[in-house]
Amino acid sequence: MPPPPLFSPPPLRLRHAAAFALVLAAAFALFFLAFSPSTTTSSPPSYGHRLPTLVDLTLVHGAKEKGAVCLDGTPPGYHWMPGFGDGSDKWLLHLEGGSWCRNLTWCDQRKRTSLGSSAYMERAEFVGILSDDQSQNPDFYNWNKVKIRYCDGASFSGNVEEEEQHGTRFFFRGQRIWEAIMTELLPKGLARAKQAFLTGCSAGGLSTYIHCDEFRALLPKDSTVKCLADGGFFLDVEDISGRRYMRGFYNDVARLQHLRKRFPGCSSDMEPGQCFFPQQVAKSITTPMFILNPAYDVWQVEHVLSPDGSDPQNLWQNCRMDITKCDTKQLEILQGFRKSLLDAISEFKKKRDWGMFIDSCFIHCQSMKSLAWHSPSASRINNKTIAEAVGDWFFDRREVKDIDCEYPCNPTCYNVELELVGGLID
Ligand SMILES: *[C@@H]1O[C@H](CO)[C@@H](O)[C@H](O)[C@H]1NC(C)=O
Ligand SMILES: *[C@@H]1O[C@H](CO)[C@@H](O)[C@H](O)[C@H]1NC(C)=O
Repeated sequence: MPPPPLFSPPPLRLRHAAAFALVLAAAFALFFLAFSPSTTTSSPPSYGHRLPTLVDLTLVHGAKEKGAVCLDGTPPGYHWMPGFGDGSDKWLLHLEGGSWCRNLTWCDQRKRTSLGSSAYMERAEFVGILSDDQSQNPDFYNWNKVKIRYCDGASFSGNVEEEEQHGTRFFFRGQRIWEAIMTELLPKGLARAKQAFLTGCSAGGLSTYIHCDEFRALLPKDSTVKCLADGGFFLDVEDISGRRYMRGFYNDVARLQHLRKRFPGCSSDMEPGQCFFPQQVAKSITTPMFILNPAYDVWQVEHVLSPDGSDPQNLWQNCRMDITKCDTKQLEILQGFRKSLLDAISEFKKKRDWGMFIDSCFIHCQSMKSLAWHSPSASRINNKTIAEAVGDWFFDRREVKDIDCEYPCNPTCYNVELELVGGLID
């Protein structure tokens, strides 16, 4: 029997519970669907807007010759929506997320999903920061937008030559995928971009920290280039049982895909996985970065703070699904988690050209949800939506270092509630 997958698809989509279930169903065998997620919002949308644009998948040309392939050896892919009007020479890239695979068993499972093989990739809905609707995406709606699919299992950073792993072929080539996609996009107009924005969520947020400076280096010197990592500031903290679960997880990923050599700045007395945490990666970034992260990121509460095995009595089961169900003790732990995040980002807050938006909501991947990114019911800090704050920062309209007060202080918060019908989300 295959082990249960640790990763759940990163975007806990608010409006598309059915799509979320479909992604899961496609990703894993049906028996993993012991739970049926249904998501609701604290304030349901009270207005309608047009349906998101669906954008075709483009497979990378000549990927196999370059060895720039997904885990299963298929070519990687992306979705490109050309810009229009005065957005024609501006480019926004989004790196897809989807956790990581830490051992061959799990990587093998991913080969049978879009997170490990382009054979399973479909058209993409462009919503939130990728939307081409001005009312939903006021500053970037008419830019060229590219969603880059994630199929290497290690945030686009592996580059292992050998393909044979214990008798099975695995391709750990994320770095080559990144390079092949950039090589393909540059002649399409990216090379002449006046303004460019590299973004990504979850594991794609980590990818953004990893690749931000490389992206900057590809673009004209006189262009404005910035990066935004959404829900990607994974913390190197102890979980509720006192283990550093996430560090162990990253150690496995780093060993599997030989990542130590990818991060030469990482000191040799550190465990290999430590170098993979955003707090380390971000230290060397010289390009302006925006850290968008909820203080109580749902994915992190579930996978970093109360991961599999840390809660044998299932005391956290309700709290990790719905923050309103947390008891006083659990809330204290969540406030401690928030404090760890604020401590970890304090060194970046000092950087004048960096921006941040740390809301106190219970959610994940806010730039990829139209209602959370920019809508009448979106979460706000100082009465600004995330889209407004990010635009203010990108275009230097104001300094943006927006840090929300502690939960439950923010009445605009757009929180997710997951319903657990039984079984584990892991
Ligand atoms: C892969 O990782 C999972 C989660 O830690 C574990 O349950 C499983 O035993 C591992 N498989 C192998 C082959 O190491
Ligand atoms: C908040 O912003 C909206 C526009 O987005 C504006 O109409 C409203 O007056 C503002 N509220 C406050 C209290 O400033």
